Amino acid sequence: MTGGAGYIGSHASKTLSQAGYDVVVLDNLSAGHRQAVKDVPLIQGDVSDVPLVRRVLRDHQISAVMHFAALLDVGASVRDPAGYYRNNVVGTLGLLEAMAAETVRLLVFSSTCATYGEPIETPIVETHPQRPINSYGETKLAIERSLPHFERAYGIHSVALRYFNAAGADPDGEIGEDHSPEIHLIPRAIHSATGGECLQVFGDDYPTPDGTCLRDYVHVVDLAEAHVRALEALAETGRSTAYNLGTGTPHSVREVIESVERVTNRRVPWTLGPRRPGDPAVLYAAAHKAQAELHWKPRFADLDSIVATAWRWHQRHPHGYGPADRD
Ligand SMILES: NC(=O)c1ccc[n+]([C@@H]2O[C@H](COP(=O)([O-])OP(=O)(O)OC[C@H]3O[C@@H](n4cnc5c(N)ncnc54)[C@H](O)[C@@H]3O)[C@@H](O)[C@H]2O)c1
Repeated sequence: MTGGAGYIGSHASKTLSQAGYDVVVLDNLSAGHRQAVKDVPLIQGDVSDVPLVRRVLRDHQISAVMHFAALLDVGASVRDPAGYYRNNVVGTLGLLEAMAAETVRLLVFSSTCATYGEPIETPIVETHPQRPINSYGETKLAIERSLPHFERAYGIHSVALRYFNAAGADPDGEIGEDHSPEIHLIPRAIHSATGGECLQVFGDDYPTPDGTCLRDYVHVVDLAEAHVRALEALAETGRSTAYNLGTGTPHSVREVIESVERVTNRRVPWTLGPRRPGDPAVLYAAAHKAQAELHWKPRFADLDSIVATAWRWHQRHPHGYGPADRD
């Protein structure tokens, strides 16, 4: 598992271990946390380091790769496309090259709804045109587009999972979301409710019922479970494909704020800012394909239950994993 010290990867690692799989994490700890890796080996290194990746694949007799490692801040990707292409595209090509050389033939790839760009139709189905509007989405799409070629040439079968907005935390409160800077709405709203920086809402004049953007928040443990199902289906059928992972129910920024207020029983101070360039008004998934083919159904379907797990993590770890933890 690349990027297994990060937010979604650490949850997937826990879920895979609970399902009986042996997991090995490769992470350069540029954004991840040592403490997020529980009871499985952590190798600190970069996915672009082909000799290292080959050694890890060989030494641990790896049969499948889940590739979470990436940079994912849309705004930063607009300012630094070179860094994003280098890390997300060149880095992934290194991983694929190592997999081809070591004949590892199963890949689950973390893709994103950002590959769709401005939707022409919602809910978004997997066949919706993919026209990203930022370099982050382009880097993910570049990899998605490369995968059929790697399958043809080297026999690497793959599933691209296009997540919508990952949210929530491990219900045990053991691991959770700790990005720096934090770019996601729910943890930012919780910070604001607990005396941290005031939340800024980017625009309230969108063509939506309350004027704020609508997004599809999907629980990180549900994402983790989808990975296990996607891997098992891929191992069984060898059929490469892509799935949207979302709940199919959009929530507005205001609804998220109200949910955080209900769950924490505190007020979320917020101010209104301008729209962010490139923020579509409405993004939510048609997730029927994953439901039908992987028999995947999100367990955390309502927003309050998602927020409650994020709140539990925050209460147990008000400063995240702590600065000493990051290399
Ligand atoms: N968080 C979301 O809402 C969301 C939505 C859609 C897609 N995704 C995708 O899911 C994946 C995981 O996202 P996350 O929120 O867990 O991010 P994260 O930053 O918490 O985790 C990413 C991990 O990858 C590691 N990493 C980055 N580049 C690396 C490299 N070159 N070599 C080795 N390790 C490297 C980081 O140290 C970090 O631990 C990413 O690929 C992201 O694009 C996330």
